[in-house]
Amino acid sequence: KRATLQLDPRRQVAPVRPRLFGSFVEHLGRCVYTGIYEPGHPTADGDGFRTDVLALVRELGATTVRYPGGNFVSSYRWEDGIGPVEQRPARLDLAWHSLETNAVGVDEFMRWAGKAGIEPIMAVNLGTRGVEAALDLLEYTNHRGGSHYAELRRANGVDKPYGIRMWCLGNEMDGPWQVGRRSASEYGRLAGQTASAMRRFDPGLELVACGSSHSGMPTFGDWERDVLMEAYDQVDYISLHAYYHQAGDDLASFLASAEDMDRYIDSVVAIADAVGAVKRSRKKIMISFDEWNVWYQRAAASVPPSGEDWPVAPRLLEDRYNLADAVVVGGLLISLLRHSDRVTAACQAQLVNVIAPIMTEPGGPAWRQTIFHPFAQTARHAKGVVLDARPAGSTVDTARFGEVGAVDAVATWDEQARGGTVFLVNRDTSEEAEVTVEVTGETVEVVECATVSGPDPYVDNTLDAPDRVRPLPNDRVTRSDTGLTVTLPPVSWTILRWA
Ligand code: AHR
Repeated sequence: KRATLQLDPRRQVAPVRPRLFGSFVEHLGRCVYTGIYEPGHPTADGDGFRTDVLALVRELGATTVRYPGGNFVSSYRWEDGIGPVEQRPARLDLAWHSLETNAVGVDEFMRWAGKAGIEPIMAVNLGTRGVEAALDLLEYTNHRGGSHYAELRRANGVDKPYGIRMWCLGNEMDGPWQVGRRSASEYGRLAGQTASAMRRFDPGLELVACGSSHSGMPTFGDWERDVLMEAYDQVDYISLHAYYHQAGDDLASFLASAEDMDRYIDSVVAIADAVGAVKRSRKKIMISFDEWNVWYQRAAASVPPSGEDWPVAPRLLEDRYNLADAVVVGGLLISLLRHSDRVTAACQAQLVNVIAPIMTEPGGPAWRQTIFHPFAQTARHAKGVVLDARPAGSTVDTARFGEVGAVDAVATWDEQARGGTVFLVNRDTSEEAEVTVEVTGETVEVVECATVSGPDPYVDNTLDAPDRVRPLPNDRVTRSDTGLTVTLPPVSWTILRWA
């Protein structure tokens, strides 16, 4: 297979948005308890946070973390998680049929966020609660002092306000599984009211309205339109969520999952802009793709406990990822990057243990899943601006998307460093692809080329063999007068850095 990618540093889509490399910590399974927080673990710091996990979070390069849910937030009382830990109530978590001890709450999360060097994205409960609880939480986190909740925060040992900028107005409010599910117009009105009340405190907040839970929802499209008809002027973002998995033996369609993500983003942008046109608004609604990943949702591991069983931090959604999953994650990052003009925030769901790049054992090690690597490399090397370029060349046939390019790619250009990076996937299941990268007006030298690949797309990383799938130097790059030519193995993800 062959493809050509023609790059011109003057043809730019948008700046690389740091918030594109966000993640997600939900009170779900072992994401919080024995994930980020495990007092008594040999690496735990004085606050009970696992420093081995913190080191991997930094290496991953996550820039933001959405918290505390997810479905969890829709019946969460944030006040349960503040003050002396021994006085906090245990509660039933109805989303995941678990017992929430509330040992970790907003203050612990914010302390952890400071240590991890990430920006928090806070979600408010619009399932069982509404405007008032959202305002109380905002006062607790963001007001300097002199009022009830601000003084409570200070009494809890945090003198300065946290100044949280970005807030999600509920979670997946269209989903039948959601506690407090609402119709689009009900939710849109509540989101608009909550947003305008929060803006009375701080007009500069960045507020996210819930879009559909995924593009296959029966109300997809109508939901976005109706919510934005109610809340367009009050919110800045609409959220998108998407999870992908291989169906049966259809590896080819799975590898092309970014085609679905591209169409989904384009559709929601079109709907948002149509609402904007109807409203004669000059404002543009941005996309917060605040849940995306590979998730084998039908696996037994995703079924919550039931009946009398309300465990604390059970093993839930602990998907093990293989090489193909890593290539798909790399492809999804390419899709997000090429939409940087409208997708200005995104969160891979989730960060630790729950459909996560980082895994832990209670009392034991923390390790990297296969999907860790494309995320970490893209977060590290996507700098400057995203270039407007798509590869042209050979195609592959897929049952789900028809004929698609065998190679997908996106490129970034860092004017200051006068260097660029190309992120590439070869979606062919059996053939190599030779890709020529030409850069208009530049003579280019290779700085680094690394590839995630292997003879078996289904090989995974495990606790005992955590490095089976990882980036390795790719020396099959040649330079000519017109550019660089790199050979990509079948089912692979590559970065090619040049200057
Ligand atoms: O990320 C896991 C779950 O997926 C989240 O709680 C929910 O928002 C989505 O359905």
